[in-house]
Amino acid sequence: MPTISSRGANAHTSPIRKLSPYADAAKKAGRKVYHLNIGQPDIQTPPAALQKVRTTDVKVLEYSPSAGIASYREKLPEYYRRNGIDVTPGDILVTSGASEGIYFALLACLDRGETILSPEPLYANYVGFAEMADVHIRAVTCTIETGFALPSVADFARALTPDVKAIFLCNPNNPTGAVYPEIMLRALAELALEHDIYLFVDEVYREFCYGETPFFSALNLPGMENHVVVFDSISKRYSACGARVGAVVSRNHRVLTTILKYAETRLSPPSFGQMLAEALIDTDEAYFSTVKKEYKQRRDLLYNRLSAMPGVTCYRPDGAFYVFAKLPIDDCERFCQWLLEDFTYNNQTVMLAPGNGFYTTPGLGKQEVRFAYVLNERDLNNAMDCLALALERYQAEMKIETSFRV
Ligand SMILES: Cc1ncc(COP(=O)(O)O)c(C=O)c1O
Repeated sequence: MPTISSRGANAHTSPIRKLSPYADAAKKAGRKVYHLNIGQPDIQTPPAALQKVRTTDVKVLEYSPSAGIASYREKLPEYYRRNGIDVTPGDILVTSGASEGIYFALLACLDRGETILSPEPLYANYVGFAEMADVHIRAVTCTIETGFALPSVADFARALTPDVKAIFLCNPNNPTGAVYPEIMLRALAELALEHDIYLFVDEVYREFCYGETPFFSALNLPGMENHVVVFDSISKRYSACGARVGAVVSRNHRVLTTILKYAETRLSPPSFGQMLAEALIDTDEAYFSTVKKEYKQRRDLLYNRLSAMPGVTCYRPDGAFYVFAKLPIDDCERFCQWLLEDFTYNNQTVMLAPGNGFYTTPGLGKQEVRFAYVLNERDLNNAMDCLALALERYQAEMKIETSFRV
């Protein structure tokens, strides 16, 4: 058999998906699995936009322009304006999800072997994109004790070496749900300017802020036109993950024209997805208030249930739809697999994302897990009933030392 590449052999697996075979086996055996492991919301995609795509008369499903369908790019500034962001169609390049945009931006802005600086825990796929682009991630570690607030600018400054080409934030944050205040973004922008490096910000959860810290877009940082690159997506905004439509937004057109070279190589983003995305711009603002209210209730439910479990450390996140919590367990991977393989309560179990996969620093996150509150309140309650019992059983079965217990 021919060999596969060492690049492929060494590629990391997604912590979010790698337990899927165990979940599949549990489902095959007839067990109900509550999926709190992945950011796939159960919220309905706005039906009017779906209907518009259904009734669009398509004779030939063509490639679109590589930078995105012109009418969609021209309409997008309407959406940004409603969110207090002033951009032109020329500042936007449509990609196949934010995922592709992030990968292309790394290729366009960093040379092989250069480094991005990112707070951890971080969205695990950044590690995969960095591997694909052959660049490094240097993490600046956030702690659960501070609700995963950004470390100080001095911490970032200390980690800055000449090979660092970008600071990369996710705001609101996946996996922690932290929302970063304007003052911190301004301070990091100053640092980026001083060192003439990029400030990449993944804003795919822009709409989902529930706390006192208002969302502040990096696109509104003054004097950062050449340094800020924002990644965006319709996946979470409209619960349209399968459309595969995102964007890179930057006033640095040299970055966009470089990304366009990669975009031309992959030809075009999905045409149906873009038709949907264009129709979604007309979504009533009431949709967002309803969806936000729903997520906020789910967050409160999850936070309250977790806080009531002995030995669990968690905080109330301000944004996105995740809670990153510390559990009274020895090893998150073992626990998450055990939940799927060995645990059942009323023929149900829970799937969680092991926390260690969201860190690049070895050894961190071993007792942590990420919960995505993407299920309705009844299912979330059932999942929490399972978890409460599972923690007790797991501790007893694994003879977890009492130091983990409270
Ligand atoms: C922070 C973050 N960025 C990017 C993505 C991927 O977005 P897309 O579906 O647009 O590729 C996700 C998906 O979960 C995410 O959580």
